Amino acid sequence: MMPTSINAEALAEAPIPHHTKQTVDPYNVAGEVGEDGVVKAIDYKKLVEEFGTKLIDKELLERFERVTGQKPHRFMRRGIAFSHRELDVILDRYEKGEPFFLYTGRGPSSDSMHIGHTVPFEFTKWLQDVFDVPLVIMMTDDEKYLFSDKRTIEEVQGYTAANAKDIIAIGFDPKKTFIFSDWDFMGGAFYKNVSRMSKHITLNQARAIFGFDNSSNIGKVHFGAIQGATAFANTFPHIFGDDEKRTTQIPCLIPCAIDQDPYFRMTRDVASRLHFAKPSLIHARFLDALQGPGSKMSASIDSSAIFMRDTPKQIKDKINKYAFSGGRVSVEEHREKGGDTTKDVPYQYLTFFLEDDEELEQIRKDYSEGKMLTGEIKAKCTEELQVYVKGFQERRAKVTDETVKEFMSQRKLEWRGNPRAPTV
Ligand code: TRP
Repeated sequence: MMPTSINAEALAEAPIPHHTKQTVDPYNVAGEVGEDGVVKAIDYKKLVEEFGTKLIDKELLERFERVTGQKPHRFMRRGIAFSHRELDVILDRYEKGEPFFLYTGRGPSSDSMHIGHTVPFEFTKWLQDVFDVPLVIMMTDDEKYLFSDKRTIEEVQGYTAANAKDIIAIGFDPKKTFIFSDWDFMGGAFYKNVSRMSKHITLNQARAIFGFDNSSNIGKVHFGAIQGATAFANTFPHIFGDDEKRTTQIPCLIPCAIDQDPYFRMTRDVASRLHFAKPSLIHARFLDALQGPGSKMSASIDSSAIFMRDTPKQIKDKINKYAFSGGRVSVEEHREKGGDTTKDVPYQYLTFFLEDDEELEQIRKDYSEGKMLTGEIKAKCTEELQVYVKGFQERRAKVTDETVKEFMSQRKLEWRGNPRAPTV
């Protein structure tokens, strides 16, 4: 089925807001627009059904904990990393001490990363610590050039350099992490896999999966083969060696936001036909913009997001001024009826960034019962984000051009995998 994509300009010009369905694909993320013209929050349950993925349920979380000996990350405990494809296959392999790797990426579309961008990377770093396996991070400079009418090659290259520093500042281990730009790394084993991928994708399929039409440039049509080829271990002989019989059977786990799923649905399909290991996925939901559910943080709208460059004062001012509140209009009414945590942006952000489950539950209770006021939950959220952003900035200040060079050089990586696995 062809996804209906929303043309933002056409929508803005339309005299009466018309009903549109929810759209989530790599190039559009928009909630349903109701008959009243109001954008609704993304319906994640519906996405799971439409995409044919599985929810991460209690049973899987328990198995994760049993197998890794680690309490699942707060994103998993709280339904933020909410969906998956064959995560169980990765757990089976970890249990047996069989190799796999992690793969994630970033489209360098601007040099101002915000807290919404760092969420999947925070989660990936944690997975790297838990599993102790190699991680490849793809910088899709080609994608961000092909999919924009405005950006120049030089501009995108500048974003890649800046974003690589931001990503390194999340705390990845240089011994286990390879970061690459598509433009620089293309060739050799990578390009062979790109060709294998592209040979198995027809124009009809690309159109149906991504919604391209006859006026789409052919770079866009081809790009999925590139993002997909990175999911194969034999793309990286400097990490896994060049015995393709073995390396084509090493799968990866891809932590990503749910909008990236179409690329990997297609990759899994092609992998089966190539008799290569299929990638597994963990999908995260999006972090709402300060303006609330149904809106998305935008790198080009300063008031929509908390940026990794913001000062403590900017963070405080933005939360106070712009964060959509689920509180009541007056203190009296709030004390009596309580706030709505399902709409409250400061509360949502706390679910992403506050580690302590008990403290979060206490806040939820106090806020919904009216014991905690809007000003108080905003202050708590501000404090947590200030700590988070400050930690990031301190690490970012230490990342030099040399560090970037190291992470981006083709070299052997060192990892251990599961120390408790039976030796095979
Ligand atoms: N297409 C992604 C973006 O625009 C970048 C990306 C490439 C990616 N490979 C990935 C993201 C794997 C997550 C996982 O940001």
